[in-house]
Amino acid sequence: MDVARVDRDRPDDAAIAAAAQVLRSGGLVAFPTETVYGLGADARSETAVRAIFAAKGRPADNPLIVHIGDPAGLVDVAATVPALAARLAEQFWPGPLTLVVEAAADLPSVTTGGLTTVAVRVPDHPVALALLRAADLPVAAPSANRSGRPSPTTAAHVIEDLDAGHVDLVLDGGACTIGIESTVVDARGDVPVILREGAVTREAMGATSAVDGSERSPGTRYRHYAPSYPVEIVPAGEGPRRAASLARQGRRVGLLAAVRGPETVTTLAVIDGPATLARVLYDALRAGETAGLDIVVVEAVGDTGVGRAVMDRLRRAAAG
Ligand code: TXA
Ligand code: MG
Repeated sequence: MDVARVDRDRPDDAAIAAAAQVLRSGGLVAFPTETVYGLGADARSETAVRAIFAAKGRPADNPLIVHIGDPAGLVDVAATVPALAARLAEQFWPGPLTLVVEAAADLPSVTTGGLTTVAVRVPDHPVALALLRAADLPVAAPSANRSGRPSPTTAAHVIEDLDAGHVDLVLDGGACTIGIESTVVDARGDVPVILREGAVTREAMGATSAVDGSERSPGTRYRHYAPSYPVEIVPAGEGPRRAASLARQGRRVGLLAAVRGPETVTTLAVIDGPATLARVLYDALRAGETAGLDIVVVEAVGDTGVGRAVMDRLRRAAAG
C-alpha cells in the first residue's frame, strides 16, 4: 500500500495521474471525498470490483456507489435518466447526494449487487474530482473502512482498517469536511425516496414530497457500526453531568457535548452543532476505542441540516 499526500485544493498533477493509472489498470485507490474516504476501482471491471469486496470483507449483495467526475456521465452508467434524477443532479451535483436509477446493461452485476439499479454520485472534493476526471472511468467506491467499522474520515482511518496487501494506493487529502456518508435517494419515480439520510436533506430536495424508504435500502440489512463500548445519547445540556456521574461510579467515560466535561471524564470533542458532530463523530468513536473507554455520553443535536442524518448514525451506534 502506497500513501501519497496531496493538497486538498491544489492536488499535484503527477500524483493524480499515477492514481488514475492504478485505477485504469484494475487496481484499488482509496481517496478522499467531502463525506468520507472511498475505496475505488473501475466500476466496469468485474475483477477490480471483486477486489473491493475482498479488501473490505463486504457481503456480495451490498451494492456499491458509482462515482463520476461530471454529471454528464450519468447517461453512460444509467439505462435511462428519469426527469427527477436530472433535476436532482442539476441541483446537487457535485455534492453529497447519491441517485439510484436503472443501471446500464454493461455494468457488471458485482457493482450493482445483482440489482437492476445503480447508485451514482459526483463528489464535491477537488482530489476526488481530479482523480475521476483523470481516470476517465466510472469508479465504484464504498466507504474505505473494513465492513462493520465506522466510515473513515482521514487517511489514517483507512490505513488502520484495510490490509496493506489489498489496496494499491491511498491518496491522503486530509480530513473530510462533512464526515458522514451521502444521502441516498431512489430517483426513479415522481418524488425522491430517501434510502439513507445525509447532508442533503429532504427539505432541500423538495420538502414534503420526499419519502422515507430506509427499510428498502440494501445497506440497512447489515449490522451497523457500534463501538466496543456502549453509546448513551442524552438531551442537549445534560452531557457533562451525566458523564461525571458515571465517572464517579469508577467508569472510564468519554463525552461529546457543547461544553467540556470535568477532569474525571475524557472530552473527545466540543460540539457546537449538528455539522460539527457529523464531522467528528466517527473519529471520536475510534479514539474512544483506543482510549479504552467503558462508555461514551453524547448530547443529541437538533434536526436542522445534517442533524437528522447524524442522529440516525448515532442511534444505530447506540443500538449496538
Ligand atoms: O458518501 C458516500 O456515499 C460514500 C463516499 C465514498 O461516496 N460512500 C458510501 O458507500 O458510503 P457505501 O458502500 O459505504 O454505502 C453505499 C450505500 C449502501 O447502503 C448501499 O446499500 C446503498 O448505498 N446502495 C448502493 N447501490 C444501491 C442501489 N442500487 N439501490 C439502493 N441502494 C444502493
Ligand atoms: Mg459504508
